[in-house]
Amino acid sequence: ASIAHEIRNPITAAKSLVQQMGEDPGGVDQVEYARVAVEELERVERSISHLLRFAREEDQQVRSVVMEDVLESALETFRDRAARSDIRFVRQYDAKGRLQGDPEQLRRVAINLIGNAVDSLEGAGVARREVRVSLGENLAGSEVWIRIADSGPGIDDEVRDRLFDPFVTSREEGTGLGLALCRKIVDEHGGTIEFESTAAESAAFVLTFPKDRSSTGREARHRSRAGGAGGSS
Ligand SMILES: Nc1ncnc2c1ncn2[C@@H]1O[C@H](COP(=O)(O)OP(=O)(O)OP(=O)(O)O)[C@@H](O)[C@H]1O
Ligand SMILES: [Mg+2]
Repeated sequence: ASIAHEIRNPITAAKSLVQQMGEDPGGVDQVEYARVAVEELERVERSISHLLRFAREEDQQVRSVVMEDVLESALETFRDRAARSDIRFVRQYDAKGRLQGDPEQLRRVAINLIGNAVDSLEGAGVARREVRVSLGENLAGSEVWIRIADSGPGIDDEVRDRLFDPFVTSREEGTGLGLALCRKIVDEHGGTIEFESTAAESAAFVLTFPKDRSSTGREARHRSRAGGAGGSS
């Protein structure tokens, strides 16, 4: 869906529901109308807050970041949801993953990816519900890599080729901005993000980041754009 659709459709729907409520104040369907109108407005609210986050040109607050801490902090936000849905988090940290970057933005990336994994598992009728989070460094010690994989149903064919484009979603309540935002933040860190699917895991996202900011100049950024998956930007 286009940006205009994402925002205009739910507003139009909510408006007509509220109009109906005004025309028939005593009607039996009032409660249902109100419920749907609120749902539609919540959808707009979510789209707009995602959009603002996506569009905002924030200066990067670059400092020394330990990716293990970032991942743990992101995992923590899903602890209750995971417990409720019987989802197990499996960690495999081969390194601390220290790098130069913006901790808040990197946390946002981790939350979006883990959130997608949890979303995919929650509705799925799979026997094993697992999110595997791995972290390591390359042999040269110049890059940190992160892998977030799940045992869910995998990526829908309809969205597979446009995963990282804004507003591409297969979920009823999704805005489709999560992965677009991940891509943007990773780009700005001179890193790469790619989708992988293997026999054992249905969906896996692999990220790499240069550890040192001096290697994240225009050249590195260009490299990540050219090499990244999912359309042009
Ligand atoms: N781990 C995953 N397993 C299965 N499908 C996935 C996974 N991650 C992403 N997807 C697919 O990619 C689509 C786009 O993901 P993205 O995070 O950009 O948006 P969303 O999750 O639909 O919405 P939002 O993040 O705004 O709630 C999802 O709707 C889903 O179809
Ligand atoms: Mg998402």
